[in-house]
Amino acid sequence: MTTRRKFLTTSMLGSAVVITGGDLLVRNGSGTKNNPIVISTWDFGKEANAAAWEILRNNGRALDAVEAGVKIPEADPNINSIGYGGLPDREGHVTLDACIMDEKYNCGSVMCLENIIHPISVARLVMEKTPHIVLVGDGALQFALANGFQKENLLTPQSAKAWKEWLKTSKYEPIPNIENKTTDKKVEEVPGGPKNHDTIGMIAMDSNGNVSGACTTSGLAFKMRGRVGDSPIIGAGLYVDNEVGAATSTGLGEEVIRIVGSHLVVELMRQGLKPEAACRNAVERIIKRNPLKAKSIQVGFLALNKKGEYGGYALQKGFTYAVKNGKEDRVYSAKSIY
Ligand code: GLY
Repeated sequence: MTTRRKFLTTSMLGSAVVITGGDLLVRNGSGTKNNPIVISTWDFGKEANAAAWEILRNNGRALDAVEAGVKIPEADPNINSIGYGGLPDREGHVTLDACIMDEKYNCGSVMCLENIIHPISVARLVMEKTPHIVLVGDGALQFALANGFQKENLLTPQSAKAWKEWLKTSKYEPIPNIENKTTDKKVEEVPGGPKNHDTIGMIAMDSNGNVSGACTTSGLAFKMRGRVGDSPIIGAGLYVDNEVGAATSTGLGEEVIRIVGSHLVVELMRQGLKPEAACRNAVERIIKRNPLKAKSIQVGFLALNKKGEYGGYALQKGFTYAVKNGKEDRVYSAKSIY
């Protein structure tokens, strides 16, 4: 038997956090609670997970964790597919989409929101302070401003330069974030190949066993004005069912919306599939609809069940996801069909 390290921290109410061989267990009068976990899409999820973990490890709520987590890439000017620094639409406007969902089917969403650096926090306010679920465009902006958010210019010089470069040809052709078969580089590393679909979808389960999720993106680079993808659509880009678990997606949103992808993954888990198998099944449904198109686009799903099991699956190679719990803090490469 391995040596078991134990750290004991007493809390106000006399409950205790025991870290045993890397496992975080929470004990109180009602017995042992769950091991918290956070998972999120892409490599940049690792840093986002770290912010979420600070909340989870202190027995905070999964909802607070996912909001805090995805705010990290939203504020990062070097990530050109989320929040500040996101690539604009074809008219040069950075428009943001985000949604959030808690363990009681409460959810909120903003679509096509401009000039607000943290759309996820506006989505949360829509959920908590209005009788509605979705606010779009100027209505979402006015709601944010009325609630103390500041207007900011989200177009960085880097993104403005990429947009001006794109204007030279104005070729409206979504480029999937897949490994470039001829150079073995990811498309975003190829000059002129903008990084397109690096939405962050994050799912967390807290020490009470409650699951929540968040999803935020600037959407498809150089998209048509007003275009909205899967990310802010409850059921498509994100779905949480506290009896089963949660799922989120990344990639070409139109294909995810058609199959209501994240809801599908959750329902497949309800029927007994493990997260990875459920994600694979959803990806296969995209292929079934249009096998030829599926070969040239990227879609990835990521899921977590109530046992804390997780998994992802993508159409193409190159989809990664980050996991953090009491045992591990790492980035995985998802399996893919092609
Ligand atoms: N998945 C992000 C988008 O299609 O906008």
